[in-house]
Amino acid sequence: MSNQVEILPQVKSFLAREQKLLINGEWVSAVDGKTFDTINPADGTSLTSVSAGEIEDVNQAVIAARNAFPAWSSMMPAQRERLLHNFADLMESHKEELAQLETLDNGKPFNIAYNVEVNVAIGQMRYYAGLPTKLKGETYNVSSPGYHVYTRKEPLGVCAAITPWNYSLVMATQKIGPALAAGNTLILKPAEQTPLTAIRMAELALEAGIPPGVFNLITGFGETAGKALTHHPDVDKVAFTGSTEVGKAILQASAGNLKHVSLELGGKSPLIIMNDADLDAASETALWAIFANSGQNCVAGSRLFVQSGVYDDVLNYLSRRAGELKVGAGMNQDTEIGPLVSNTQLERVMSYVEAGQKQGVELVAGGNRSGGDLSAGYFLEPTVFGAVNDTATIASEEIFGPVLSVMKFETEDEVIQRANQSRYGLAAGVWTNHLARAHRMAAQLRAGVVWINTYDWFDPAVPFGGMGESGYGRELGTQVMDMYTELKSVWVKIE
Ligand code: NAI
Ligand code: MG
Repeated sequence: MSNQVEILPQVKSFLAREQKLLINGEWVSAVDGKTFDTINPADGTSLTSVSAGEIEDVNQAVIAARNAFPAWSSMMPAQRERLLHNFADLMESHKEELAQLETLDNGKPFNIAYNVEVNVAIGQMRYYAGLPTKLKGETYNVSSPGYHVYTRKEPLGVCAAITPWNYSLVMATQKIGPALAAGNTLILKPAEQTPLTAIRMAELALEAGIPPGVFNLITGFGETAGKALTHHPDVDKVAFTGSTEVGKAILQASAGNLKHVSLELGGKSPLIIMNDADLDAASETALWAIFANSGQNCVAGSRLFVQSGVYDDVLNYLSRRAGELKVGAGMNQDTEIGPLVSNTQLERVMSYVEAGQKQGVELVAGGNRSGGDLSAGYFLEPTVFGAVNDTATIASEEIFGPVLSVMKFETEDEVIQRANQSRYGLAAGVWTNHLARAHRMAAQLRAGVVWINTYDWFDPAVPFGGMGESGYGRELGTQVMDMYTELKSVWVKIE
């Protein structure tokens, strides 16, 4: 038991509280009093019960956000920066608490929650905290004499952020940061599977001095709370990360008032290992490209293409390492692979494993739920299928679990063509020591991000987003500010 993370007293007292909605700076129960339990996926028990906001709660949050907009959008940029930095500072001083809450709610290993997820989230908040004073327009040398023309970047108004459960903190901060920095007000609707860190962050935002109504939180379900936000006529923008299916529904709902929409959706990302790659590093990277976060990663390298000269070596390496990975509860410090987020997700992923076996694909590692002490949680062994046909269900659909399809190829042209054969286009990876080939392939792969001799790296400064059915719009970087602002052109007659 010595390797168990000890639950902090403040986490215990947080879980013992009634979890409410944050509307206009007040913590309130849902209008009709509905609640739902959030589950610890490591053992299937309820962590706490959370308010289930619905249409009427959303309406009130939108009114609060609308009323808060004039003062927030006209606040001195330096003052907005100060408040956002206060928020980042408070996240930093509550790092351990946030990481514990995320591990309990989502299942991911505590070390990853603490050292990766919370750090990345804080880094994003700091990056965007610095931007209010850097927003600027341009002047234009127009051909009409006697005119001075310039542009202004103005906030959109009321934004809604609808986030998934796989990286609850990071998916939230990469929307909260630019939305508030640009002078918009916000309603965050976190995933019903993992609402806890969003609630804690909303408390910290309030404590940081972010004015009432600027940052509102509605916990609840997609079909009720989420849907109400996407249909609301007074919401100006929806920023969404989640499934392609829901992304399409959000786009349709946006037609009502032509609200802005940005969509970060699914993926089936190819990772390509060429014969000339540094094999040990490539193989270990391929292992984590799929198994990090138990495969619940929009950029998961779920289609591994290996050139024929090194195919057997890579497959042997992966099947051996997959079997070695320590599966367990995230609060156990030895754990490398946590449970899936929910029983629904476990069943969905298991149905893909069964489809692979039914279609006669060779299973080289894993494939089973974990038994014994872990049988109450939603654990699945890291799973590797070899010699997979490109058209097999497991090689074409997003599984969002620890299931890898390995494919063999012969030539560069062939693998580019096969890698691009997907309705998705989120990420891709190439491992090669041939400089020209690396850049050539990066240019030809249809993906919003390409990693060369690495995988799954992010930085707040670097744009991220997908092509095709992986969605559109880019988050992160400074250019995301264009997606949270309107550009206004002003003509002035000066002669
Ligand atoms: P989902 O797309 O249903 O949920 C994501 C968010 O959207 C949640 O906050 C949910 O409450 C909300 N939502 C659901 N239906 C909505 C609606 N009609 N209107 C507005 N908001 C709505 O994803 P789910 O069901 O949790 O996972 C299903 C699959 O989606 C996964 O197996 C995976 O393939 C994919 N997915 C991809 C993610 C990514 O990062 N690209 C993240 C989560 C899921
Ligand atoms: Mg949960």
